[in-house]
Amino acid sequence: MIEISLADAKELPAEIPLGFAALEGGTILGGAGIAPGLRREIAARADADGFRGKLDETASLCVPWEGVERRVLLAGAGPQSRFGGESLRRACGALAHAAKRRFEALAFDPADRVQEAAEGMMLAAYGFNEYKKAEPGRLKGAKLLVRRSSERRRAEKALERAKLSCEAVFLARDLGNRAPSDKPPRALAQFAKSLEGAGVSVEVLGPQEMSSLGMGALLGVSRGSAQPCAFVHLSYRGPGAKRKIGLLGKGITFDSGGLSLKPPAGMETMKRDMAGAAAVLAVFKVLPRLKPKIEVHGFCAFSYNMPGPDALKPGDVVRAMNGKTIEVLNTDAEGRLVLADALSYAVREKMDALIDVATLTGAAVTALGPKVGVAMGTDRALLRGLLEASRRAGEILCEFPLVADYKEWIQSSVADLCNMGRVRGEGGTVIGGLFLEEFAGGLPWVHLDIAGPSWSSSGGSLAAQGATGAIVRTLIEFLCP
Ligand code: BES
Ligand code: MN
Ligand code: ZN
Repeated sequence: MIEISLADAKELPAEIPLGFAALEGGTILGGAGIAPGLRREIAARADADGFRGKLDETASLCVPWEGVERRVLLAGAGPQSRFGGESLRRACGALAHAAKRRFEALAFDPADRVQEAAEGMMLAAYGFNEYKKAEPGRLKGAKLLVRRSSERRRAEKALERAKLSCEAVFLARDLGNRAPSDKPPRALAQFAKSLEGAGVSVEVLGPQEMSSLGMGALLGVSRGSAQPCAFVHLSYRGPGAKRKIGLLGKGITFDSGGLSLKPPAGMETMKRDMAGAAAVLAVFKVLPRLKPKIEVHGFCAFSYNMPGPDALKPGDVVRAMNGKTIEVLNTDAEGRLVLADALSYAVREKMDALIDVATLTGAAVTALGPKVGVAMGTDRALLRGLLEASRRAGEILCEFPLVADYKEWIQSSVADLCNMGRVRGEGGTVIGGLFLEEFAGGLPWVHLDIAGPSWSSSGGSLAAQGATGAIVRTLIEFLCP
Protein backbone atom coordinates (compact mmCIF):
# COMPACT_ATOMS: atom_id res chain seq x y z
CA MET A 1 0.00 0.00 0.00
CA ILE A 2 1.29 3.48 -0.69
CA GLU A 3 0.31 6.65 1.12
CA ILE A 4 -0.75 9.49 -1.16
CA SER A 5 -0.69 13.07 0.06
CA LEU A 6 -0.83 16.56 -1.38
CA ALA A 7 2.18 18.85 -1.52
CA ASP A 8 2.78 22.44 -2.45
CA ALA A 9 4.59 22.46 -5.79
CA LYS A 10 6.88 25.24 -4.57
CA GLU A 11 8.15 23.38 -1.52
CA LEU A 12 9.30 20.20 -3.13
CA PRO A 13 12.64 18.77 -1.93
CA ALA A 14 15.05 18.29 -4.84
CA GLU A 15 15.95 14.70 -3.95
CA ILE A 16 12.48 13.33 -4.63
CA PRO A 17 11.98 12.11 -8.20
CA LEU A 18 9.40 14.13 -10.07
CA GLY A 19 6.87 12.38 -12.28
CA PHE A 20 4.84 13.61 -15.22
CA ALA A 21 2.48 12.03 -17.67
CA ALA A 22 3.39 12.61 -21.30
CA LEU A 23 1.33 12.18 -24.44
CA GLU A 24 2.46 10.39 -27.55
CA GLY A 25 4.45 12.99 -29.45
CA GLY A 26 6.16 14.21 -26.29
CA THR A 27 3.79 16.78 -24.76
CA ILE A 28 4.31 16.80 -20.99
CA LEU A 29 1.08 17.26 -19.06
CA GLY A 30 0.95 19.74 -16.20
CA GLY A 31 4.28 21.11 -15.04
CA ALA A 32 3.08 24.70 -15.01
CA GLY A 33 6.30 25.80 -13.34
CA ILE A 34 8.76 24.25 -15.79
CA ALA A 35 10.63 26.70 -17.98
CA PRO A 36 10.01 26.12 -21.73
CA GLY A 37 13.69 25.34 -22.28
CA LEU A 38 13.68 22.65 -19.61
CA ARG A 39 10.47 21.20 -21.00
CA ARG A 40 12.12 20.85 -24.42
CA GLU A 41 15.19 19.33 -22.80
CA ILE A 42 13.12 16.69 -20.98
CA ALA A 43 11.16 15.84 -24.12
CA ALA A 44 14.34 15.57 -26.19
CA ARG A 45 16.11 13.30 -23.71
CA ALA A 46 13.07 11.07 -23.33
CA ASP A 47 12.82 10.80 -27.09
CA ALA A 48 16.50 9.89 -27.34
CA ASP A 49 15.85 7.16 -24.75
CA GLY A 50 13.21 5.70 -27.04
CA PHE A 51 10.25 6.90 -24.94
CA ARG A 52 7.17 7.33 -27.15
CA GLY A 53 4.46 8.20 -24.61
CA LYS A 54 2.49 5.01 -25.15
CA LEU A 55 0.33 3.64 -22.33
CA ASP A 56 2.28 1.50 -19.84
CA GLU A 57 5.58 3.00 -21.04
CA THR A 58 7.90 4.84 -18.64
CA ALA A 59 11.24 6.67 -18.82
CA SER A 60 13.67 7.75 -16.12
CA LEU A 61 15.93 10.75 -16.79
CA CYS A 62 18.34 12.98 -14.96
CA VAL A 63 18.06 16.64 -15.93
CA PRO A 64 19.65 19.86 -14.68
CA TRP A 65 16.84 21.64 -12.86
CA GLU A 66 17.32 25.08 -11.34
CA GLY A 67 20.98 24.39 -10.68
CA VAL A 68 20.65 20.80 -9.35
CA GLU A 69 20.47 17.41 -11.04
CA ARG A 70 16.96 16.12 -10.70
CA ARG A 71 15.43 12.71 -11.41
CA VAL A 72 12.42 12.97 -13.70
CA LEU A 73 10.10 10.05 -14.41
CA LEU A 74 7.79 10.11 -17.38
CA ALA A 75 4.82 7.84 -17.91
CA GLY A 76 3.03 7.45 -21.21
CA ALA A 77 -0.54 8.72 -21.43
CA GLY A 78 -1.21 7.51 -24.97
CA PRO A 79 -2.39 9.61 -27.90
CA GLN A 80 -3.93 13.05 -27.41
CA SER A 81 -7.03 11.98 -29.36
CA ARG A 82 -7.89 9.34 -26.74
CA PHE A 83 -6.77 11.23 -23.66
CA GLY A 84 -9.03 11.19 -20.61
CA GLY A 85 -9.10 10.38 -16.93
CA GLU A 86 -8.37 6.72 -17.58
CA SER A 87 -5.19 7.65 -19.50
CA LEU A 88 -3.95 9.42 -16.41
CA ARG A 89 -4.87 6.48 -14.16
CA ARG A 90 -2.91 4.19 -16.46
CA ALA A 91 0.09 6.54 -16.57
CA CYS A 92 0.12 6.79 -12.78
CA GLY A 93 -0.23 3.04 -12.45
CA ALA A 94 2.81 2.55 -14.70
CA LEU A 95 4.70 5.16 -12.73
CA ALA A 96 3.96 3.43 -9.43
CA HIS A 97 5.21 0.13 -10.88
CA ALA A 98 8.37 1.76 -12.26
CA ALA A 99 9.14 3.52 -8.97
CA LYS A 100 8.25 0.59 -6.70
CA ARG A 101 11.70 -0.94 -6.32
CA ARG A 102 13.86 2.13 -6.82
CA PHE A 103 12.49 5.07 -4.87
CA GLU A 104 10.94 5.57 -1.47
CA ALA A 105 8.94 8.58 -2.47
CA LEU A 106 7.71 10.19 -5.61
CA ALA A 107 6.16 13.50 -6.55
CA PHE A 108 3.72 13.78 -9.42
CA ASP A 109 2.04 16.62 -11.21
CA PRO A 110 -1.56 15.45 -11.64
CA ALA A 111 -2.38 18.26 -14.06
CA ASP A 112 -5.66 18.93 -12.20
CA ARG A 113 -6.74 15.31 -12.15
CA VAL A 114 -5.98 14.48 -8.55
CA GLN A 115 -8.58 11.73 -8.17
CA GLU A 116 -7.49 9.79 -11.24
CA ALA A 117 -3.79 10.19 -10.44
CA ALA A 118 -4.25 8.93 -6.87
CA GLU A 119 -6.47 6.06 -7.99
CA GLY A 120 -3.96 5.00 -10.62
CA MET A 121 -1.12 4.83 -8.11
CA MET A 122 -3.10 3.07 -5.41
CA LEU A 123 -4.78 0.54 -7.72
CA ALA A 124 -1.37 -0.34 -9.15
CA ALA A 125 0.15 -0.84 -5.71
CA TYR A 126 -2.45 -3.41 -4.56
CA GLY A 127 -1.26 -6.86 -3.60
CA PHE A 128 -3.14 -9.75 -2.01
CA ASN A 129 -1.31 -10.75 1.15
CA GLU A 130 -3.64 -12.99 3.11
CA TYR A 131 -1.56 -16.12 2.50
CA LYS A 132 1.94 -14.84 1.84
CA LYS A 133 4.12 -11.94 2.86
CA ALA A 134 3.83 -8.72 0.91
CA GLU A 135 6.40 -8.34 -1.85
CA PRO A 136 9.07 -5.96 -0.61
CA GLY A 137 8.84 -2.62 -2.36
CA ARG A 138 10.65 0.59 -1.50
CA LEU A 139 7.96 3.02 -2.53
CA LYS A 140 6.13 4.19 0.59
CA GLY A 141 4.29 7.19 -0.68
CA ALA A 142 3.63 9.73 -3.38
CA LYS A 143 2.99 13.45 -3.26
CA LEU A 144 0.56 15.01 -5.69
CA LEU A 145 1.51 18.57 -6.46
CA VAL A 146 -0.91 21.41 -5.97
CA ARG A 147 0.08 24.60 -7.76
CA ARG A 148 -2.25 27.21 -6.27
CA SER A 149 -3.58 27.36 -2.73
CA SER A 150 -7.03 28.10 -4.18
CA GLU A 151 -7.01 24.57 -5.61
CA ARG A 152 -6.12 22.94 -2.33
CA ARG A 153 -9.68 22.37 -1.09
CA ARG A 154 -10.80 20.72 -4.31
CA ALA A 155 -7.67 18.59 -4.42
CA GLU A 156 -8.25 17.41 -0.85
CA LYS A 157 -11.77 16.31 -1.73
CA ALA A 158 -10.59 14.52 -4.85
CA LEU A 159 -7.88 12.70 -2.91
CA GLU A 160 -10.31 11.68 -0.18
CA ARG A 161 -12.67 10.35 -2.83
CA ALA A 162 -9.88 8.37 -4.50
CA LYS A 163 -8.91 6.82 -1.17
CA LEU A 164 -12.47 5.75 -0.44
CA SER A 165 -13.01 4.27 -3.89
CA CYS A 166 -9.75 2.30 -3.68
CA GLU A 167 -10.53 1.09 -0.17
CA ALA A 168 -13.77 -0.31 -1.57
CA VAL A 169 -12.04 -1.88 -4.59
CA PHE A 170 -9.44 -3.51 -2.35
CA LEU A 171 -12.11 -5.08 -0.17
CA ALA A 172 -13.76 -6.57 -3.26
CA ARG A 173 -10.37 -7.83 -4.48
CA ASP A 174 -9.45 -9.33 -1.11
CA LEU A 175 -12.77 -11.16 -0.85
CA GLY A 176 -12.53 -12.39 -4.44
CA ASN A 177 -8.96 -13.61 -4.02
CA ARG A 178 -9.62 -15.43 -0.74
CA ALA A 179 -9.53 -19.22 -1.03
CA PRO A 180 -13.01 -20.63 -1.59
CA SER A 181 -13.03 -22.81 1.52
CA ASP A 182 -12.12 -19.77 3.61
CA LYS A 183 -15.21 -17.80 2.66
CA PRO A 184 -18.28 -19.93 3.30
CA PRO A 185 -21.63 -18.11 2.95
CA ARG A 186 -22.02 -17.71 6.70
CA ALA A 187 -18.58 -16.11 7.06
CA LEU A 188 -19.35 -13.55 4.36
CA ALA A 189 -22.71 -12.83 5.96
CA GLN A 190 -20.90 -12.32 9.25
CA PHE A 191 -18.49 -9.98 7.52
CA ALA A 192 -21.48 -8.04 6.12
CA LYS A 193 -22.78 -7.76 9.68
CA SER A 194 -19.50 -6.10 10.65
CA LEU A 195 -20.29 -3.26 8.23
CA GLU A 196 -23.20 -2.29 10.45
CA GLY A 197 -22.73 1.07 12.13
CA ALA A 198 -23.67 4.70 11.74
CA GLY A 199 -25.96 4.91 8.72
CA VAL A 200 -25.89 1.21 7.79
CA SER A 201 -28.00 -1.62 9.17
CA VAL A 202 -27.60 -5.26 8.22
CA GLU A 203 -29.96 -8.20 8.43
CA VAL A 204 -28.77 -11.77 7.89
CA LEU A 205 -31.14 -14.58 6.95
CA GLY A 206 -30.29 -18.24 7.42
CA PRO A 207 -31.89 -21.28 5.74
CA GLN A 208 -34.86 -21.34 8.14
CA GLU A 209 -35.92 -17.77 7.48
CA MET A 210 -35.34 -18.29 3.77
CA SER A 211 -37.45 -21.38 3.82
CA SER A 212 -40.37 -19.54 5.46
CA LEU A 213 -40.05 -16.82 2.83
CA GLY A 214 -40.15 -19.43 0.07
CA MET A 215 -36.67 -18.80 -1.34
CA GLY A 216 -36.56 -22.22 -2.96
CA ALA A 217 -34.16 -21.30 -5.74
CA LEU A 218 -31.31 -20.11 -3.49
CA LEU A 219 -31.96 -22.99 -1.08
CA GLY A 220 -31.92 -25.40 -4.01
CA VAL A 221 -28.48 -24.25 -5.19
CA SER A 222 -27.03 -24.74 -1.70
CA ARG A 223 -28.31 -28.35 -1.41
CA GLY A 224 -25.13 -29.83 -2.86
CA SER A 225 -22.96 -28.23 -0.22
CA ALA A 226 -22.36 -29.14 3.43
CA GLN A 227 -22.34 -25.41 4.14
CA PRO A 228 -25.68 -23.60 4.43
CA CYS A 229 -26.48 -20.59 2.24
CA ALA A 230 -26.93 -17.09 3.62
CA PHE A 231 -28.85 -14.02 2.50
CA VAL A 232 -27.87 -10.52 3.52
CA HIS A 233 -29.93 -7.33 3.40
CA LEU A 234 -27.95 -4.14 4.02
CA SER A 235 -29.53 -0.72 4.13
CA TYR A 236 -28.15 2.78 4.10
CA ARG A 237 -30.28 5.90 4.43
CA GLY A 238 -28.73 9.17 3.34
CA PRO A 239 -29.83 12.59 4.59
CA GLY A 240 -33.20 13.59 3.10
CA ALA A 241 -33.33 10.43 0.96
CA LYS A 242 -36.24 10.09 -1.46
CA ARG A 243 -35.09 7.40 -3.89
CA LYS A 244 -34.55 3.75 -2.92
CA ILE A 245 -31.98 1.93 -5.01
CA GLY A 246 -31.46 -1.80 -4.65
CA LEU A 247 -28.04 -3.34 -5.42
CA LEU A 248 -28.09 -7.10 -5.76
CA GLY A 249 -25.07 -9.36 -5.83
CA LYS A 250 -24.47 -12.92 -6.94
CA GLY A 251 -22.46 -14.49 -4.13
CA ILE A 252 -21.46 -17.98 -5.25
CA THR A 253 -18.51 -18.68 -2.97
CA PHE A 254 -17.36 -21.40 -5.33
CA ASP A 255 -18.98 -22.57 -8.54
CA SER A 256 -18.11 -26.16 -9.34
CA GLY A 257 -21.08 -26.30 -11.68
CA GLY A 258 -22.89 -28.70 -9.35
CA LEU A 259 -23.84 -32.02 -10.92
CA SER A 260 -23.49 -30.32 -14.32
CA LEU A 261 -19.85 -30.26 -13.28
CA LYS A 262 -17.44 -27.84 -14.91
CA PRO A 263 -14.23 -29.19 -16.45
CA PRO A 264 -11.14 -28.54 -14.24
CA ALA A 265 -9.93 -25.52 -16.22
CA GLY A 266 -13.36 -23.92 -16.00
CA MET A 267 -13.29 -24.21 -12.20
CA GLU A 268 -9.85 -22.72 -11.61
CA THR A 269 -11.04 -19.19 -10.97
CA MET A 270 -14.53 -19.93 -9.69
CA LYS A 271 -13.71 -18.64 -6.22
CA ARG A 272 -14.44 -15.26 -7.86
CA ASP A 273 -18.06 -16.21 -8.54
CA MET A 274 -19.05 -14.01 -5.59
CA ALA A 275 -17.59 -10.87 -7.23
CA GLY A 276 -21.07 -9.34 -7.62
CA ALA A 277 -21.85 -9.67 -3.92
CA ALA A 278 -18.32 -8.54 -3.05
CA ALA A 279 -18.91 -5.35 -5.06
CA VAL A 280 -22.12 -4.70 -3.14
CA LEU A 281 -20.37 -5.19 0.22
CA ALA A 282 -17.50 -2.98 -0.93
CA VAL A 283 -19.89 -0.15 -1.80
CA PHE A 284 -21.52 -0.41 1.62
CA LYS A 285 -18.16 -0.23 3.32
CA VAL A 286 -17.69 3.35 2.11
CA LEU A 287 -21.27 4.61 1.60
CA PRO A 288 -21.61 6.11 5.10
CA ARG A 289 -18.51 8.22 4.44
CA LEU A 290 -19.62 9.26 0.95
CA LYS A 291 -23.06 10.21 2.33
CA PRO A 292 -25.14 10.30 -0.88
CA LYS A 293 -28.66 11.70 -0.39
CA ILE A 294 -30.43 8.50 -1.37
CA GLU A 295 -31.49 5.25 0.21
CA VAL A 296 -29.42 2.26 -0.89
CA HIS A 297 -30.27 -1.36 -0.16
CA GLY A 298 -27.90 -4.24 -0.73
CA PHE A 299 -29.08 -7.81 -1.25
CA CYS A 300 -26.43 -10.53 -1.36
CA ALA A 301 -27.25 -14.17 -2.04
CA PHE A 302 -24.40 -16.38 -0.80
CA SER A 303 -24.08 -20.08 -1.57
CA TYR A 304 -21.60 -22.69 -2.71
CA ASN A 305 -22.57 -24.54 -5.88
CA MET A 306 -21.38 -28.11 -5.19
CA PRO A 307 -22.27 -31.63 -6.39
CA GLY A 308 -22.89 -33.13 -2.91
CA PRO A 309 -25.17 -36.12 -2.28
CA ASP A 310 -28.35 -34.04 -2.06
CA ALA A 311 -27.44 -31.66 -4.90
CA LEU A 312 -30.02 -30.35 -7.35
CA LYS A 313 -30.33 -32.73 -10.28
CA PRO A 314 -30.98 -31.70 -13.87
CA GLY A 315 -34.76 -31.91 -14.23
CA ASP A 316 -35.46 -30.74 -10.67
CA VAL A 317 -38.00 -27.98 -10.23
CA VAL A 318 -37.57 -25.22 -7.66
CA ARG A 319 -39.97 -22.46 -6.67
CA ALA A 320 -38.60 -18.93 -6.25
CA MET A 321 -39.88 -16.47 -3.66
CA ASN A 322 -42.15 -14.69 -6.17
CA GLY A 323 -43.97 -18.00 -6.78
CA LYS A 324 -42.50 -18.78 -10.21
CA THR A 325 -41.32 -22.34 -10.74
CA ILE A 326 -38.05 -23.09 -12.49
CA GLU A 327 -36.95 -26.30 -14.17
CA VAL A 328 -33.22 -26.67 -13.50
CA LEU A 329 -31.86 -28.29 -16.64
CA ASN A 330 -28.30 -27.23 -15.97
CA THR A 331 -27.09 -26.91 -12.38
CA ASP A 332 -24.24 -24.72 -13.62
CA ALA A 333 -26.71 -21.95 -14.42
CA GLU A 334 -26.98 -21.31 -10.66
CA GLY A 335 -26.35 -17.56 -10.61
CA ARG A 336 -29.74 -16.78 -12.10
CA LEU A 337 -31.34 -19.07 -9.51
CA VAL A 338 -29.89 -17.32 -6.48
CA LEU A 339 -30.61 -13.93 -8.09
CA ALA A 340 -34.22 -14.97 -8.78
CA ASP A 341 -34.77 -15.04 -5.02
CA ALA A 342 -32.67 -11.95 -4.34
CA LEU A 343 -34.68 -9.99 -6.93
CA SER A 344 -38.00 -11.29 -5.59
CA TYR A 345 -36.96 -10.24 -2.09
CA ALA A 346 -35.87 -6.78 -3.27
CA VAL A 347 -39.13 -6.29 -5.17
CA ARG A 348 -41.03 -7.00 -1.96
CA GLU A 349 -38.95 -4.32 -0.23
CA LYS A 350 -40.36 -1.79 -2.74
CA MET A 351 -37.27 -0.36 -4.44
CA ASP A 352 -37.46 2.46 -7.02
CA ALA A 353 -34.72 0.84 -9.12
CA LEU A 354 -32.82 -2.43 -9.12
CA ILE A 355 -29.26 -3.08 -10.25
CA ASP A 356 -27.96 -6.63 -10.10
CA VAL A 357 -24.29 -7.48 -10.42
CA ALA A 358 -23.19 -10.99 -11.33
CA THR A 359 -20.48 -13.11 -12.87
CA LEU A 360 -23.34 -14.69 -14.75
CA THR A 361 -22.25 -16.13 -18.08
CA GLY A 362 -19.16 -17.50 -19.76
CA ALA A 363 -20.76 -16.24 -22.97
CA ALA A 364 -20.10 -12.66 -21.84
CA VAL A 365 -16.39 -13.48 -21.58
CA THR A 366 -16.44 -15.11 -25.02
CA ALA A 367 -18.17 -12.10 -26.55
CA LEU A 368 -16.22 -9.27 -24.96
CA GLY A 369 -13.13 -10.62 -23.20
CA PRO A 370 -11.74 -9.67 -19.82
CA LYS A 371 -11.97 -5.88 -20.01
CA VAL A 372 -15.65 -5.35 -20.76
CA GLY A 373 -18.79 -5.88 -18.71
CA VAL A 374 -22.32 -6.22 -20.05
CA ALA A 375 -25.27 -4.02 -19.15
CA MET A 376 -28.84 -4.83 -20.06
CA GLY A 377 -32.07 -3.58 -18.60
CA THR A 378 -35.58 -2.22 -18.83
CA ASP A 379 -34.98 1.43 -18.05
CA ARG A 380 -33.15 3.85 -20.37
CA ALA A 381 -32.36 6.44 -17.72
CA LEU A 382 -30.93 3.86 -15.33
CA LEU A 383 -28.88 2.30 -18.13
CA ARG A 384 -27.59 5.68 -19.26
CA GLY A 385 -26.66 6.62 -15.70
CA LEU A 386 -24.65 3.43 -15.26
CA LEU A 387 -22.94 3.67 -18.65
CA GLU A 388 -21.93 7.27 -17.93
CA ALA A 389 -20.70 6.34 -14.46
CA SER A 390 -18.61 3.53 -15.94
CA ARG A 391 -16.99 5.96 -18.37
CA ARG A 392 -15.98 8.28 -15.54
CA ALA A 393 -14.64 5.32 -13.58
CA GLY A 394 -12.63 4.07 -16.55
CA GLU A 395 -14.49 0.74 -16.61
CA ILE A 396 -16.00 -0.41 -19.89
CA LEU A 397 -19.64 -1.49 -20.04
CA CYS A 398 -21.36 -2.52 -23.24
CA GLU A 399 -25.12 -2.65 -23.61
CA PHE A 400 -26.71 -5.88 -24.81
CA PRO A 401 -30.35 -6.11 -25.92
CA LEU A 402 -33.12 -7.98 -24.09
CA VAL A 403 -34.33 -9.72 -27.25
CA ALA A 404 -38.04 -10.36 -26.68
CA ASP A 405 -38.17 -13.09 -29.32
CA TYR A 406 -35.76 -15.23 -27.27
CA LYS A 407 -38.10 -15.35 -24.29
CA GLU A 408 -39.61 -18.52 -25.64
CA TRP A 409 -36.18 -20.16 -25.32
CA ILE A 410 -36.52 -20.21 -21.55
CA GLN A 411 -40.02 -21.67 -21.50
CA SER A 412 -40.31 -25.11 -19.90
CA SER A 413 -42.83 -27.85 -20.53
CA VAL A 414 -43.05 -28.65 -16.81
CA ALA A 415 -42.47 -25.30 -15.03
CA ASP A 416 -42.93 -21.55 -15.53
CA LEU A 417 -39.35 -21.16 -16.69
CA CYS A 418 -36.26 -23.16 -17.54
CA ASN A 419 -32.85 -22.04 -16.27
CA MET A 420 -31.09 -22.44 -19.59
CA GLY A 421 -31.79 -21.47 -23.18
CA ARG A 422 -33.27 -24.00 -25.56
CA VAL A 423 -30.64 -23.39 -28.23
CA ARG A 424 -27.43 -24.55 -26.58
CA GLY A 425 -24.51 -22.20 -27.06
CA GLU A 426 -26.48 -19.33 -28.57
CA GLY A 427 -27.06 -15.92 -26.99
CA GLY A 428 -26.15 -17.12 -23.49
CA THR A 429 -25.68 -13.68 -21.99
CA VAL A 430 -28.96 -12.33 -23.35
CA ILE A 431 -30.76 -15.46 -22.12
CA GLY A 432 -29.36 -14.87 -18.63
CA GLY A 433 -30.69 -11.32 -18.70
CA LEU A 434 -34.12 -12.37 -19.98
CA PHE A 435 -34.36 -14.94 -17.20
CA LEU A 436 -33.57 -12.37 -14.50
CA GLU A 437 -36.07 -9.90 -15.94
CA GLU A 438 -38.80 -12.38 -14.95
CA PHE A 439 -37.99 -11.64 -11.29
CA ALA A 440 -37.58 -7.85 -11.42
CA GLY A 441 -41.32 -7.32 -10.86
CA GLY A 442 -41.59 -4.74 -13.66
CA LEU A 443 -39.40 -2.26 -11.74
CA PRO A 444 -36.73 -0.19 -13.51
CA TRP A 445 -33.93 -2.74 -13.56
CA VAL A 446 -30.43 -3.19 -14.95
CA HIS A 447 -28.36 -6.36 -14.96
CA LEU A 448 -24.57 -6.09 -15.03
CA ASP A 449 -22.76 -9.24 -16.15
CA ILE A 450 -19.17 -8.86 -14.93
CA ALA A 451 -18.00 -12.40 -15.75
CA GLY A 452 -15.19 -10.95 -17.90
CA PRO A 453 -13.81 -8.00 -15.93
CA SER A 454 -14.10 -9.67 -12.50
CA TRP A 455 -10.75 -11.40 -13.04
CA SER A 456 -7.40 -10.56 -14.55
CA SER A 457 -5.48 -13.67 -15.55
CA SER A 458 -2.37 -11.81 -16.66
CA GLY A 459 -2.43 -8.79 -14.36
CA GLY A 460 -2.21 -5.26 -15.72
CA SER A 461 -0.95 -1.87 -14.63
CA LEU A 462 -4.06 -1.13 -12.54
CA ALA A 463 -4.85 -4.61 -11.25
CA ALA A 464 -2.64 -7.47 -10.15
CA GLN A 465 -3.36 -10.97 -11.39
CA GLY A 466 -6.57 -12.24 -9.73
CA ALA A 467 -9.79 -10.59 -8.61
CA THR A 468 -10.08 -7.04 -9.92
CA GLY A 469 -12.84 -5.46 -7.84
CA ALA A 470 -14.64 -4.75 -11.11
CA ILE A 471 -17.70 -2.45 -11.14
CA VAL A 472 -17.10 -1.11 -7.60
CA ARG A 473 -15.90 2.29 -8.82
CA THR A 474 -18.69 2.46 -11.39
CA LEU A 475 -21.30 1.83 -8.70
CA ILE A 476 -19.73 4.47 -6.46
CA GLU A 477 -19.71 6.98 -9.35
CA PHE A 478 -23.33 6.14 -10.07
CA LEU A 479 -24.55 6.48 -6.49
CA CYS A 480 -22.39 9.48 -5.57
CA PRO A 481 -21.75 11.49 -8.76
N1 BES B 1 -20.14 -18.51 -12.92
C1 BES B 1 -20.47 -18.98 -14.22
C2 BES B 1 -20.16 -17.96 -15.31
C3 BES B 1 -18.72 -17.59 -15.52
C4 BES B 1 -17.96 -18.29 -16.43
C5 BES B 1 -18.18 -16.52 -14.87
C6 BES B 1 -16.64 -17.92 -16.66
C7 BES B 1 -16.86 -16.15 -15.08
C8 BES B 1 -16.10 -16.85 -15.99
C9 BES B 1 -21.94 -19.32 -14.30
O1 BES B 1 -22.51 -19.79 -13.13
C10 BES B 1 -22.10 -20.39 -15.32
O2 BES B 1 -21.54 -21.43 -15.13
N2 BES B 1 -22.84 -20.11 -16.38
C11 BES B 1 -23.06 -21.06 -17.41
C12 BES B 1 -24.51 -20.97 -17.84
C13 BES B 1 -24.95 -22.06 -18.78
C14 BES B 1 -24.87 -23.40 -18.10
C15 BES B 1 -26.36 -21.79 -19.23
C16 BES B 1 -22.12 -20.73 -18.57
O3 BES B 1 -21.88 -19.55 -18.83
O4 BES B 1 -21.61 -21.66 -19.18
MN1 MN C 1 -22.24 -21.86 -12.88
ZN1 ZN D 1 -21.62 -19.16 -11.41
